[in-house]
Amino acid sequence: MPWDPILFRNHFPFFSNDLDITYLDNAATTQKNIETINSLSFFYSHFNANVHRGAHYLSIKATELFEDARNKIQHFINAKNSNEIIFTKGTTDAINLVAFSYIEQFCKSGDNIITTPIEHHSNFVPWQLAAKRKDLELRVIPFNTNNYTLDLEAFKKLVDNNTKIIAITQVSNVLGIATPVNEIIQFAHSKNIPVLLDAAQSFPHMPIDVQQLDADFVSLSAHKFYGPTGIGILFGKEKWLAAMPPYQSGGEMIDQVSIDHTTFNELPFKFEAGTPNYADAIAWGATIDFINQCDKNLMFGYEEELWNYAYQKLSSLPFIKIFAIPEQKHYGALSFLLDGIHPYDAATVLDELKIAVRVGHHCAQPLMSILGVSGTIRASFAPYNTKDDIDKLVEGLKTVYKFFNKNK
Ligand SMILES: Cc1ncc(COP(=O)(O)O)c(C=O)c1O
Repeated sequence: MPWDPILFRNHFPFFSNDLDITYLDNAATTQKNIETINSLSFFYSHFNANVHRGAHYLSIKATELFEDARNKIQHFINAKNSNEIIFTKGTTDAINLVAFSYIEQFCKSGDNIITTPIEHHSNFVPWQLAAKRKDLELRVIPFNTNNYTLDLEAFKKLVDNNTKIIAITQVSNVLGIATPVNEIIQFAHSKNIPVLLDAAQSFPHMPIDVQQLDADFVSLSAHKFYGPTGIGILFGKEKWLAAMPPYQSGGEMIDQVSIDHTTFNELPFKFEAGTPNYADAIAWGATIDFINQCDKNLMFGYEEELWNYAYQKLSSLPFIKIFAIPEQKHYGALSFLLDGIHPYDAATVLDELKIAVRVGHHCAQPLMSILGVSGTIRASFAPYNTKDDIDKLVEGLKTVYKFFNKNK
């Protein structure tokens, strides 16, 4: 049976509340399925109490549900142990944790960090700040704009005895392409260098198995894959997390506190200072149950079909420049520009037509700079989108082009 986007869409009340919307901004955030929404409401209505604190029934129940959610996420990404799952506010928070804590423990002046120029700022600026703070060098793997690939030979030459971590996105939020993470991890590990994968854009579009990937750290956000906002995880191999100092301090992350000394809680709590976002974590557990009921092969296959359809339709418009090489496999995002029309102007007209796309630099200014543009328009797809949504985008783009060229 083929994937049925309408059946899937029926789980998302957002679309029944706004029948005319063409929502193509899924790489920014996805809509929420009813099971996730109900879980949040049900939890607050029945069980709300702070976790890991009280001896009363509600607190015990809330703690149980919170830890169940951690286990669900652990199994979803196939981590070995639930203590390798640190709840964070999202991807940004997770990367900042590593860029602070790992760097504090393992880096000294003169060491270097390697990343790429196609990163979201979340996986770039924290390393830049860490480099400033600790007098490190931030090295950037060249990206070839002719064939949209990272230069792996150049990468190998950047690695030396002072390389302490490699931080790389698994899928570009602008170009929708995957990076060669297996080769990078294999090479890094041959030199005992850990690798952080930013999985914010891969997690919604491909199965993630952290043991198979052998990644040392993986960051992701629930909201990119139908889950609630304000919650995500850092996965970290226990051997690294155990050696790293706390990132933030306060309640819950301690073992014993005296006037002049503090010892810290075990993993994962050492990295979860303060009241965690337990309600959203629990609702995320419901999201994961929902996703697990879907046939992921069909779902991901359908997303690819949508991308290919969009590419084929958009490339038939003579006034569109697409930032993609169709032979490459794509995961959700398609960036383009209209000849002579500023992306913000185009998006304003599209918005009038109730077509939601993202415009701008997409928090990836280094990539914009090497592409030689200040921004792009990005359409990004989820399995509740239909070919009809893409046809509407194509008609919308024709309207935009006519609108800005009517006096020519
Ligand atoms: C590749 C990538 N990394 C990191 C982030 C940051 O995610 P969040 O804002 O959920 O922390 C995003 C968000 O768009 C992203 O696309």
